Amino acid sequence: MTQDEMKKAAGWAALQYVKKDTIVGVGTGSTVNYFIDALATMKDDIEGAVSSSEASTKKLIELGIEVFDLNSVDLIDIYVDGADEINDRMDMIKGGGAALTREKIVAAVANKFICIVDNTKQVDILGEFPLPVEVIPMARSYVARELVKLGGDPVYRQGVVTDNGNVILDVYNMKILDPKVMETKINAIVGVVTNGLFANRGADVLLVGTPDGVKTVTL
Ligand code: A5P
Repeated sequence: MTQDEMKKAAGWAALQYVKKDTIVGVGTGSTVNYFIDALATMKDDIEGAVSSSEASTKKLIELGIEVFDLNSVDLIDIYVDGADEINDRMDMIKGGGAALTREKIVAAVANKFICIVDNTKQVDILGEFPLPVEVIPMARSYVARELVKLGGDPVYRQGVVTDNGNVILDVYNMKILDPKVMETKINAIVGVVTNGLFANRGADVLLVGTPDGVKTVTL
């Protein structure tokens, strides 16, 4: 089974968590694109979606799913999204696709976070994948210096502007032993919009595509 087939299996497996007449939070990325394909089969049964990126919004609309502004929505039942890394405490690194801030906002509103990954994303310790940090452009150099003090090697993601008009620093060589503490510390640097650690609000259900089928993990 290819990595793509495992992503697809995880994406379609998330459909079982979608309840009728609800608004579904939708993440961003290649795994979520499979979930959006699956969600389109239920488009007449759900109220619609709240999206975490311009890319997902475009795909949702193309498939006939109504997309609501988050400010017009009180309740999101589930948020479905991929991850770049996830550990066995359901802490994640996200933001490989630069959509981390909107992802974190929609996830915060949802009752339940359903994480969909292929099995290459499961790790013991977070940090092998460079940690994305969304930064206000004028603060880029200052934030980079502060990230070095925290032990990382930040690299400016050239040519990328987020949906919010900001830039991304990818922080290499961080062995993240306490994801909650690190998430809070990085977010406290002035000029940081948010960072790609999803630990203070981690996943509630993990669906992992493996060669033996989709495995479900809960804490
Ligand atoms: C987008 O910014 C990310 O958080 C994605 O959720 C993450 O990079 C996973 O993407 P794939 O499903 O494409 O691997």
